Amino acid sequence: MHRLAVDSRFRHYGIGTTLVDYAIALIQDKIAANVGCRFVVTDAKIEAVSFYEKQGFILLDSEGNQHAEQRLMFLDLVSLQ
Ligand SMILES: CC(C)(COP(=O)(O)OP(=O)(O)OC[C@H]1O[C@@H](n2cnc3c(N)ncnc32)[C@H](O)[C@@H]1OP(=O)(O)O)[C@@H](O)C(=O)NCCC(=O)NCCS
Repeated sequence: MHRLAVDSRFRHYGIGTTLVDYAIALIQDKIAANVGCRFVVTDAKIEAVSFYEKQGFILLDSEGNQHAEQRLMFLDLVSLQ
Protein backbone atom coordinates (compact mmCIF):
# COMPACT_ATOMS: atom_id res chain seq x y z
CA MET A 1 0.00 0.00 0.00
CA HIS A 2 1.55 3.27 -1.08
CA ARG A 3 0.82 6.98 -1.03
CA LEU A 4 -2.47 6.75 0.87
CA ALA A 5 -3.80 10.21 1.64
CA VAL A 6 -7.09 11.92 2.43
CA ASP A 7 -7.70 15.61 1.65
CA SER A 8 -6.87 17.46 4.89
CA ARG A 9 -10.36 19.04 4.94
CA PHE A 10 -11.94 15.57 5.19
CA ARG A 11 -9.70 13.69 7.64
CA HIS A 12 -11.11 11.88 10.71
CA TYR A 13 -14.39 11.05 8.93
CA GLY A 14 -13.47 7.40 8.35
CA ILE A 15 -12.44 7.86 4.70
CA GLY A 16 -8.91 6.49 5.26
CA THR A 17 -10.34 3.40 6.95
CA THR A 18 -12.81 2.90 4.08
CA LEU A 19 -9.98 3.17 1.51
CA VAL A 20 -7.87 0.60 3.39
CA ASP A 21 -10.87 -1.75 3.74
CA TYR A 22 -11.57 -1.39 -0.01
CA ALA A 23 -7.92 -2.10 -0.93
CA ILE A 24 -7.85 -5.19 1.29
CA ALA A 25 -11.13 -6.46 -0.17
CA LEU A 26 -9.68 -6.01 -3.70
CA ILE A 27 -6.48 -7.83 -2.71
CA GLN A 28 -8.46 -10.73 -1.20
CA ASP A 29 -10.97 -11.04 -4.05
CA LYS A 30 -8.87 -10.22 -7.15
CA ILE A 31 -5.24 -10.92 -6.25
CA ALA A 32 -4.92 -13.44 -3.40
CA ALA A 33 -7.63 -15.58 -4.99
CA ASN A 34 -5.46 -16.03 -8.12
CA VAL A 35 -1.81 -15.78 -7.04
CA GLY A 36 0.06 -16.45 -3.82
CA CYS A 37 -0.33 -13.45 -1.53
CA ARG A 38 -0.10 -13.60 2.27
CA PHE A 39 0.91 -10.13 3.49
CA VAL A 40 -0.01 -6.53 2.66
CA VAL A 41 2.87 -4.18 3.47
CA THR A 42 3.30 -0.44 3.80
CA ASP A 43 6.15 1.95 4.62
CA ALA A 44 4.30 4.13 7.11
CA LYS A 45 5.24 7.68 7.97
CA ILE A 46 5.85 7.83 11.74
CA GLU A 47 2.77 10.01 12.25
CA ALA A 48 0.62 7.43 10.42
CA VAL A 49 1.77 4.35 12.38
CA SER A 50 -1.14 4.43 14.84
CA PHE A 51 -3.61 4.89 11.97
CA TYR A 52 -2.30 1.69 10.35
CA GLU A 53 -2.29 -0.13 13.71
CA LYS A 54 -6.01 0.62 13.96
CA GLN A 55 -6.39 -1.05 10.54
CA GLY A 56 -4.69 -4.21 11.90
CA PHE A 57 -1.16 -3.60 10.56
CA ILE A 58 1.79 -4.69 12.75
CA LEU A 59 5.20 -2.99 12.94
CA LEU A 60 8.04 -5.22 11.76
CA ASP A 61 9.98 -5.91 14.96
CA SER A 62 13.56 -5.26 13.89
CA GLU A 63 16.11 -2.80 15.21
CA GLY A 64 16.55 -1.18 11.81
CA ASN A 65 12.81 -0.64 11.48
CA GLN A 66 12.53 1.02 14.90
CA HIS A 67 14.88 3.76 13.73
CA ALA A 68 13.77 4.02 10.11
CA GLU A 69 12.34 7.24 8.71
CA GLN A 70 9.41 5.22 7.38
CA ARG A 71 8.35 2.14 9.35
CA LEU A 72 7.67 -1.16 7.60
CA MET A 73 4.29 -2.53 8.68
CA PHE A 74 2.46 -5.63 7.54
CA LEU A 75 -1.03 -7.10 7.63
CA ASP A 76 -1.36 -10.90 7.62
CA LEU A 77 -4.33 -11.76 5.37
CA VAL A 78 -4.68 -15.11 7.17
CA SER A 79 -5.47 -13.23 10.41
CA LEU A 80 -8.57 -11.79 8.69
CA GLN A 81 -10.11 -15.21 7.93
C1 LIG B 1 -3.46 8.79 7.55
C2 LIG B 1 -4.75 9.29 6.82
C3 LIG B 1 -4.81 8.66 5.42
C4 LIG B 1 -5.95 8.83 7.66
O1 LIG B 1 -7.15 9.18 6.97
P1 LIG B 1 -8.49 9.54 7.76
O2 LIG B 1 -9.61 9.53 6.76
O3 LIG B 1 -8.30 10.78 8.54
O4 LIG B 1 -8.59 8.29 8.76
P2 LIG B 1 -9.89 7.76 9.54
O5 LIG B 1 -10.86 8.88 9.74
O6 LIG B 1 -10.38 6.53 8.86
O7 LIG B 1 -9.24 7.40 10.96
C5 LIG B 1 -9.24 6.09 11.47
C6 LIG B 1 -8.64 6.09 12.84
O8 LIG B 1 -7.25 6.44 12.76
C7 LIG B 1 -6.99 7.61 13.54
N1 LIG B 1 -6.09 8.45 12.78
C8 LIG B 1 -6.33 9.07 11.61
N2 LIG B 1 -5.23 9.73 11.19
C9 LIG B 1 -4.28 9.51 12.14
C10 LIG B 1 -2.94 9.93 12.28
N3 LIG B 1 -2.33 10.70 11.37
N4 LIG B 1 -2.26 9.54 13.38
C11 LIG B 1 -2.89 8.76 14.32
N5 LIG B 1 -4.16 8.33 14.24
C12 LIG B 1 -4.84 8.70 13.15
C13 LIG B 1 -8.34 8.30 13.73
O9 LIG B 1 -8.36 9.03 14.94
C14 LIG B 1 -9.28 7.11 13.77
O10 LIG B 1 -9.30 6.56 15.06
P3 LIG B 1 -10.67 6.20 15.79
O11 LIG B 1 -11.37 5.23 14.88
O12 LIG B 1 -10.25 5.64 17.09
O13 LIG B 1 -11.38 7.52 15.88
C15 LIG B 1 -4.78 10.84 6.74
O14 LIG B 1 -4.57 11.38 8.04
C16 LIG B 1 -3.74 11.44 5.81
O15 LIG B 1 -3.98 11.57 4.59
N6 LIG B 1 -2.56 11.81 6.34
C17 LIG B 1 -1.50 12.45 5.56
C18 LIG B 1 -0.86 11.48 4.60
C19 LIG B 1 -0.30 10.29 5.32
O16 LIG B 1 0.35 10.40 6.36
N7 LIG B 1 -0.56 9.11 4.72
C20 LIG B 1 -0.02 7.87 5.21
C21 LIG B 1 1.13 7.54 4.30
S1 LIG B 1 2.21 6.38 5.04
